Amino acid sequence: MVFYRLIKGDCFKVMPKLASESIDLIISDPPTHLSHMMGLGYEEYYKRLMTECLRLGKKDLTIYFTVSVPRYNILYPIMKNLFSKSFENVELLRWSPQPIICGSNQPLTVTLRDIKDILAVPEKLKVHPAQRPIALFQKFVYASSVKGDVVLDMFIGSGTSMIAAYGFERSCIGIEIDGGFCNLVKRFCSSFPNFSFEVNE
Ligand SMILES: C[S@@+](CC[C@H](N)C(=O)[O-])C[C@H]1O[C@@H](n2cnc3c(N)ncnc32)[C@H](O)[C@@H]1O
Repeated sequence: MVFYRLIKGDCFKVMPKLASESIDLIISDPPTHLSHMMGLGYEEYYKRLMTECLRLGKKDLTIYFTVSVPRYNILYPIMKNLFSKSFENVELLRWSPQPIICGSNQPLTVTLRDIKDILAVPEKLKVHPAQRPIALFQKFVYASSVKGDVVLDMFIGSGTSMIAAYGFERSCIGIEIDGGFCNLVKRFCSSFPNFSFEVNE
């Protein structure tokens, strides 16, 4: 049965409580400000994140991570190295001009042509400063999962990945540390069948 589960909490505390090999697809915008790195530095932070993603992922896990444009020169080599160690196929997509790194042991089929015409969310319509267009995440959901699969976004912000998952009958687990942003996700997604909200702090 398809489900939608929003968890308020720090993903580094919540993810270890989720079952191993339970996730088919991860779509996420990981934070890039040093202030969010828990004093670990980028390399260690992303290493820990990736280790947990791989534990949660099923054999055919696919991951899409955005890479911050201003910190691209620091973050891309770190992510490329981690993805290359973990997956047979690694690609860098550029959307408007946001770089998105993807990795999988299955073929990666989304191309620049598929996403280049997707418009960014206009500033005046944004409910979250880093909100992504639903159409962008829908491309990833459609290409890299099938009906009933489970999508994880551990930095879910306004809920874009949950809405994208819903459109294609995939389940979704979203984690968000900020209570205000959780309320946004609840507002958008609470009409979904089997939506649940829990606080894990
Ligand atoms: C770049 S935004 C995601 C935007 C989202 N893709 C959207 O379309 O709305 C990253 C989010 O991660 C959250 N965040 C940062 N560190 C976190 C952590 N350790 N655990 C869970 N959420 C976190 C922030 O509050 C922020 O809302």
